[in-house]
Amino acid sequence: MEVPKLFIKDEGRNPTWSHKDRFSTVAVSVARAQGAKVVATASSGNAGASLAAYAARAGLRCVVTTFGGSANAMLAQIRKYGATALPLANKMDRWTLLAEAATRYGWFIASPYSAPVVGSHALGIEGYKTIAYEIVEQSGGVAPDWCVLPVCYGDALSGVWAGFQELYAQGAIPRLPRMVAAEVHGSLAHALVTGGDRLEERGMAFESLAVSIGAPRSAYQALKALRESCGRAVPVSNDGLVEMQERLARDEGIFAELASVTPLLAIARLRGEGVIAAKDRVVAVATASGLKDLDRSVGNPTDDTIFRSTGDAWDWLDRNAATLLVRQR
Ligand SMILES: Cc1ncc(COP(=O)(O)O)c(C=O)c1O
Repeated sequence: MEVPKLFIKDEGRNPTWSHKDRFSTVAVSVARAQGAKVVATASSGNAGASLAAYAARAGLRCVVTTFGGSANAMLAQIRKYGATALPLANKMDRWTLLAEAATRYGWFIASPYSAPVVGSHALGIEGYKTIAYEIVEQSGGVAPDWCVLPVCYGDALSGVWAGFQELYAQGAIPRLPRMVAAEVHGSLAHALVTGGDRLEERGMAFESLAVSIGAPRSAYQALKALRESCGRAVPVSNDGLVEMQERLARDEGIFAELASVTPLLAIARLRGEGVIAAKDRVVAVATASGLKDLDRSVGNPTDDTIFRSTGDAWDWLDRNAATLLVRQR
């Protein structure tokens, strides 16, 4: 990509294999401190899986309102951690149900649940600051020139930005990075161009493979972070997404969710436009593991050949991967 100082912050190594754990550990601690017995979230997957795990550890009940079409692995996680998953046909019903639950039963709601969308629980978002702290710590005390995240409602982007701001205010870093949102339908890019503080709901012109960030509208918090950091928003389509996922896996040994490789496509675009310079230090936050959305990125492989003998396997290698059959030493 001609970005020699490109670094990946791999959030797929968290306990439930996504960056949402940064949020959930704080949100669940707050819920418990407030005496909540039930925590709940509307989630396409990662946030629900994460909240379910932290609720299990904290001894709280957890309800996840979701919708048909979320990725199987995350739904399985939610159920295995003992949470109640409620898939609803109408996406908006997820929020209505949570609003009713908050009023009727006082459930602690971690996600947004009113339109137009605002961010998730503000104290949970504080947890994302730790991503900025770790980036700086792991980079020898410097902030990158650019920090790029996949964005849905922008909880993580705004939390990471707040973390960098905090470090800057304390004098721990000499300058702030510029933030970049890799988004799908372009509500942030549109708002940055047109001005104003209201984000418009965008038409869903295509069905994104990056299912975790496929919402038609982001939230003001993300816009604010982009404006404050002189950042950019880059709409990312399905073109080249799976190829980029495979390139990251093959070149770096990092297998990331499709949503999580959108920052790399955004970086390639900005580098191509000359916005990111070759000398710039760039961090892409890969938010979740590639095991999360195998049903999107791989489907059901049916063409695996089973060899009946080692001879058949050698023949196959000879025909398909002859470069392996060279004496090494
Ligand atoms: C893998 C992944 N990346 C990024 C995001 C974006 O999160 P946010 O709402 O913080 O922008 C999500 C969830 O929405 C996600 O699951």
